[in-house]
Amino acid sequence: MRTLFHLLCLTLLGATSAFSQDDKVMELGKATFQACVACHGPDGKGIKAGDLLMAPSLHDSLFIKENHPELLTGIILKGILKEDNKYIQAMLTLEAALDDEQIAALIAYVTKEFGGKRQSVKPAAVARWRKEFKSRTSPWKRKDLEGLLKEANAPKLISDVTYSVYEGNWKKLPAFASLAPVLGAGALPAKWVIHTVGPNYAAGERDRGLLESCYVRSLEVADELGATSVAFPLISAGVYAWPKQDAIDTAVGAIRTARTQVERVSLVAFDEETARQIESSLG
Ligand code: HEC
Repeated sequence: MRTLFHLLCLTLLGATSAFSQDDKVMELGKATFQACVACHGPDGKGIKAGDLLMAPSLHDSLFIKENHPELLTGIILKGILKEDNKYIQAMLTLEAALDDEQIAALIAYVTKEFGGKRQSVKPAAVARWRKEFKSRTSPWKRKDLEGLLKEANAPKLISDVTYSVYEGNWKKLPAFASLAPVLGAGALPAKWVIHTVGPNYAAGERDRGLLESCYVRSLEVADELGATSVAFPLISAGVYAWPKQDAIDTAVGAIRTARTQVERVSLVAFDEETARQIESSLG
């Protein structure tokens, strides 16, 4: 998936959000996993039958270990074509058997149990992928899946750089603590607000990794929300005084290399000069 950068030149906002691990999701995920145990085994290691396995170990699956819930959903929906006799069984097509909520919960469960890190996706995201894969009428060929994985892991291209001067309503910064997305004139034209705290360079917090993690972690949160576009300010480059060019390079680098489902990232600059500086760093 390509990440589009979009520059706006205006005053900015940050955000707020609260997440709680949802035990009910894990319970549903575990229950849904019962559809998989006949072949992959309750421990996900694959059930042995003589010298062969019914199905591969899910602990080794890159589709689970790496953050590509869309591909994992594709596999669950469409199954995998049986092309050799390496495994006794073939991966089933479960499109009709599982609904979006079950698949979202299943992704949370298998990624946590077998991949080491829980991936949270919303049922709405699964619904979107279901639509995207709808036209496929046969199971995947393994080669095609591997191609998609490679493509998804390729460094992201940045293109379509545009910027404009914002002339809208919200000139004053809202009080972040009380911020909730609302609709209407003067309100944030956003569905969610993600709050990240940038390091205070002026106070001696100068670890670049920290600054990078603001972008990376925010994009992870955006993935959990199912957001497809995110607008960032140039984090820490205001009163926290991070040197501007380095703040820009860090932002661009972190966003370019982040593994995310987000399709469009806007970097929002304070003024036209900064917007141009960002633009030339993208070039
Ligand atoms: C009828 C047996 C069977 C069932 C049930 C089944 N699978 Fe599979 N699955 C397989 C087989 C066989 C493969 C290997 C296909 C191949 O590569 O040829 C596979 C492959 C996979 C892969 C890809 C592994 C990789 O990295 O190559 C994933 C992910 C997966 N299954 C997840 C699931 C999940 C989640 C469920 C439950 C919803 C499930 N499977 C149910 C038999 C099954």
